[in-house]
Amino acid sequence: MESSEFIAIFVAIASFFFIHTWWSNRNNPIINWPFFGMLPAVLYNLSNIHDYATTVLKHYGGTFMFKGPWLTNSNFFITTDPVNVQHITTKNFDNYIKGSHFYEIFEIMGDGIFNIDSHKWKHSRDILQSLFRQNSFDSLVVKAIHKNLMGCLIPLLNDVSELRTVVDLQDIFQRFSFDNICSIVLGFDPKSLPNKLTTKFPEVLFENAFNRMENAMFYRHVFPKFLWKLQKLLQIGQEKNYSECKKIIDQFLHQCISSTFQEQSKFNCAEDDDDESSFNMLKALAEESGMKQINHKFLRDSALSLLAAGRDTISSSLSWFFWLVSTHPIVEAKILEEIRANFITKEENWLINSRVEENLNKLVYLHGALCESLRLFPPLPFEHKSAVKPDILPSGDRVNANTMILYSLYSMGRIEQIWGEDCLKFKPERWVSEKENNIHVPSYKFIAFQSGPRSCLGKNISFIQMKIVAIALLQNFQFEVMEGHDVRPCLSVILHMKHGLKVKVTKRGIIN
Ligand code: HEM
Repeated sequence: MESSEFIAIFVAIASFFFIHTWWSNRNNPIINWPFFGMLPAVLYNLSNIHDYATTVLKHYGGTFMFKGPWLTNSNFFITTDPVNVQHITTKNFDNYIKGSHFYEIFEIMGDGIFNIDSHKWKHSRDILQSLFRQNSFDSLVVKAIHKNLMGCLIPLLNDVSELRTVVDLQDIFQRFSFDNICSIVLGFDPKSLPNKLTTKFPEVLFENAFNRMENAMFYRHVFPKFLWKLQKLLQIGQEKNYSECKKIIDQFLHQCISSTFQEQSKFNCAEDDDDESSFNMLKALAEESGMKQINHKFLRDSALSLLAAGRDTISSSLSWFFWLVSTHPIVEAKILEEIRANFITKEENWLINSRVEENLNKLVYLHGALCESLRLFPPLPFEHKSAVKPDILPSGDRVNANTMILYSLYSMGRIEQIWGEDCLKFKPERWVSEKENNIHVPSYKFIAFQSGPRSCLGKNISFIQMKIVAIALLQNFQFEVMEGHDVRPCLSVILHMKHGLKVKVTKRGIIN
């Protein structure tokens, strides 16, 4: 047979299979193509991937098997079923680990707590947990936030309001959270957020590298492993980005660790001049882990995990919260009314007060508004685990050993069965009981902080931080989102806004 005839027959057979697949799946939201699997649908819907996944999951009743391209070993289960999630994260916890696939994707995190399993993870969690439980930790966080708030954020927004210029509130929150978490973890403030409006905010290499690295890690989730590994080998595309970012991050952390432990530092990493903040988590970690000699790798990996945990989650949460509140004036008015009713005044220096936490706990509606924002826009939009042994999920789906299971935190916040028909509405009231207490929703349903033994260690402290910022900013300013500004998630492992949050800021009149 001539080779042209052979090609013609091949094309005819392939066309038949493609047309047949398309025709028999035309009513499905996702098509499993011969050879390419479901990847074409993912690529086609990439810009809107979280909402698309929500639609597909709803169509299949909450759980389905994603089929990757043939021979790439990239099939995985995806679920939003809270009973499955409870099973994976809690009831059969030992059978679902982060695993080697997770480690490869997030290799930059090294042996930090997010990346490890079994004894290593338990050891790391015990050390961190005992640090987080120290009373001095909470007061360190409150002091650090007070300093960054009063020293930079409020003066900067005052400037912005006076000059009537438009700013990107998300960029401001990222810088603010970065400075804040660096003070807490590393004991110095990189001052990426200025206290005055300048034509261009200073570029902090490390901060910028962090953002680029997160985008690159997202692409490792989308493309089959062999493809991103090939890119890595050839040092092209997102993988080139990844390597550059890793270098910057490693260099920065190395210098900070050296500087903290009083070795020679060439990097601009000077310790904060404030004596009170000479306590930092890096030193406390070294002490708590009984380190006899400086273990750079342990400190680097731990510091990176804590910086990632504290920067992105808080800045993402604050950005979505302020967007939602600014576009829901009734909610905004209710939050302000609650602040006023609880006698938190602008004049009183309530942050210095030793009863900060007690005061914050009275703000039930504000707490509801934050939970509601985290439900709709969880900073970590998805999670994945790998099965150690074969298992059957409560939904009846059979899981093989090494099968990856992805659960979408974003989609779980949009399920009618959990949140009711108005699940897409921003409604803080759903978190407030008739007796005006906060309603508890189990963590396998309200999943933003993860559930089970691996749930977030920073949950309490995050609420304290977010409430302090929310109160201080809402009391002082009004934010108006620019008309027509396109707000949508970007393609990253963190749910940032793709085009930032462009707002006009005006000073609020006296509300007390
Ligand atoms: C709104 C803010 C936050 C949200 C929504 C959040 C969410 C999460 C989620 C979903 C996980 C599970 C990640 C995984 O297993 O891959 C997690 C774990 C963790 N978070 Fe947070 N987090 C927040 C803030 C913080 C802060 C401020 C800290 C501390 C500085 C922190 C420390 C941790 C730690 C240490 C873990 C690892 C727990 C473990 O694996 O045992 N988080 N967080």
